[in-house]
Amino acid sequence: MKPIALVGMPGGGKSTVGKQLARQIGVPFVDSDHEIEQRIGGSIKQFFEQQGEEAFRDLETETIAELIARPGDCVLATGGGAVLRERNRQMLHEGATVLYLRSTPEDLFRRLRHDTTRPLLQVKDPLAKLRELHQQRDPLYRRCAHFVLESARPSVHALVNMALMQL
Ligand code: S3P
Repeated sequence: MKPIALVGMPGGGKSTVGKQLARQIGVPFVDSDHEIEQRIGGSIKQFFEQQGEEAFRDLETETIAELIARPGDCVLATGGGAVLRERNRQMLHEGATVLYLRSTPEDLFRRLRHDTTRPLLQVKDPLAKLRELHQQRDPLYRRCAHFVLESARPSVHALVNMALMQL
């Protein structure tokens, strides 16, 4: 079996659904953001502020390549911007079964409005930013994914079952 990769916007449930899905299938759960934070020995937010987005994207590409190449099955949650690079989309599409957890910007905003850890959302109008990012990225997530799961309404449990049915 290939790894199962989850893509989608921040706040779309990749970690929550990914952990439960991994538990149900009986494979490890891996989070590319967490792996990056281990490597840099600090937070992504701080790294973004100090080194900039491009440096973060380089690290993200390296990390995803390594995680996909790791032997053994896993469920892999990727960062919301992982699909921005064509190389990442291709690596994920070819090396994993990719599920896109899709939510509306309004639902994402409801879940993220008190969050201070996402550097791209530390702006005056986070809802407008989420709308902009969603519009830009939705076609990229679709291109990268093998399956789209609408995550606005269903519970985590329902989403995990939907994911299991696609595998
Ligand atoms: C990002 C999303 C974050 C993290 C970084 C950049 C993005 O991951 O990779 O802050 O570009 O949307 P989550 O989707 O897990 O929040």
